[in-house]
Amino acid sequence: MPEHVPVTTGQQLGRRSWAEPWKIKMVEPLWMSTREERERALAEAGYNTFLLRSEEVYIDLLTDSGTNAMSDRQWAGMILGDEAYAGSRNFYRLEAAVQRYYGYAHVVPTHQGRGAEHLISQLAIKPGQFVPGNMYFTTTRLHQERAGGVFVDVIRDEAHDPESLYPFKGDVDLGKLEALVAEHGAEQIAYVSLAGTVNMAGGQPVSMANVKALRSFCDEHAIRLFLDATRMVENAWFIQEREDGYAGRSIAEILLEFCSYTDGAWMSAKKDSLVNIGGWLALNDSDLFEEARNLVVVFEGLHTYGGLAGRDMEAIAIGIEESVQDAHVRSRIGQVYYLGELLEAADVPFVRPVGGHAIFLDARRFYPHLSQDAFPAQTLAAELYLDSGIRSMERGIVSAGRDPKTGDHRYPKLELTRLTIPRRVYTQAHMDVVAEAVQAVYAARENARGLKLTYEPRLLRFFQARFEPL
Ligand code: F0G
Repeated sequence: MPEHVPVTTGQQLGRRSWAEPWKIKMVEPLWMSTREERERALAEAGYNTFLLRSEEVYIDLLTDSGTNAMSDRQWAGMILGDEAYAGSRNFYRLEAAVQRYYGYAHVVPTHQGRGAEHLISQLAIKPGQFVPGNMYFTTTRLHQERAGGVFVDVIRDEAHDPESLYPFKGDVDLGKLEALVAEHGAEQIAYVSLAGTVNMAGGQPVSMANVKALRSFCDEHAIRLFLDATRMVENAWFIQEREDGYAGRSIAEILLEFCSYTDGAWMSAKKDSLVNIGGWLALNDSDLFEEARNLVVVFEGLHTYGGLAGRDMEAIAIGIEESVQDAHVRSRIGQVYYLGELLEAADVPFVRPVGGHAIFLDARRFYPHLSQDAFPAQTLAAELYLDSGIRSMERGIVSAGRDPKTGDHRYPKLELTRLTIPRRVYTQAHMDVVAEAVQAVYAARENARGLKLTYEPRLLRFFQARFEPL
């Protein structure tokens, strides 16, 4: 495995340009606003991009979640929805697709990823147990905490350093995991919570070597290993690109091998699977699955629909198959890399190496004059919207929330603003416009004064918090 990889992908993608393996058949007009309109809209939204109306946004890079463009085949599949309460044909298609491409034995659908996170957390965590994970994700950790678990970050140190070029910054540090087990005993570990292309670290991948080593470690200590498979297809692409022995293997083969080292997975199909809604929980253990099938009825719906319409399950089944095509993943991540190359040429600070689903601007280096209490990443998201109507998302101190014990802000090392690229939605020309806007905001960085909180919700505060300029 190479110690360092090039920052972006000129070389990695080969000399030839990449292009999307599809053409456009339907379009949605965009609204272009004036600066005055944006100032009004942002003030009304409490300087929180989550509270803007979508109509007030020009290029929407808030998230890649549920914002995918579906294919003609997926739309055709929607018409084949079997809207039976029980035993819908589309459920069996979804189950077969998950079994074939992810390799797990049993599947329950859920309305989206956090529905599955809720189920696995309730089923597999006893109050007081520890849940080691490769960096937290907001909803994942909250469900673990609500089930009485204590999240412990066991990701490699490099993941917290936006400038480190380590190729697999998503890897678990086995030394940290061992220390946790040595201190508390294996029976105090609920499970290892492993995520593909770690979102909060900047979309950074986990290596196959790491998941294999984790599997042996977990076998040795009789600890279960569950996977957040939300962006695991994208993780497979990084393995193909960077890890010895995988260059000649297909994305589908790599995905299946990776999942085979884990005991089950939860999934937000709204990302990799190219749909607008849906998720699932998959498990190999029949007893645990029996419990999941029981619990899903309480919170999501019967075990053959889990909160989804039949047509949605059909769209996911087709989306899974489209998502593992090498040409699709190559162009999807190729577009993210393209934006990274433009920003790199402009010397804008962002997390390296470029991740799978987004560019994460480094707000600390944008605004070294702002303290973390002045919410630099939130400020950057606000400034970018004001400049251009581009919507991004804070992934820093606001997202990290408060420590449930002390009530203080958690101060994460990473203070990032995420430019998230929806799949199959925007063109290369849109990426050019985004790069120009980011450059303009960077050029005006000394004028930024920061924000203060005026309203703070108790849970997942970043979604609905309100701010005022300092
Ligand atoms: N796991 C990861 C890694 C995620 O990124 C998300 C959602 C979830 C779980 C929860 O899935 O939204 O379907 O309930 N991430 C979105 C984002 C919200 O914008 O990154 P969900």
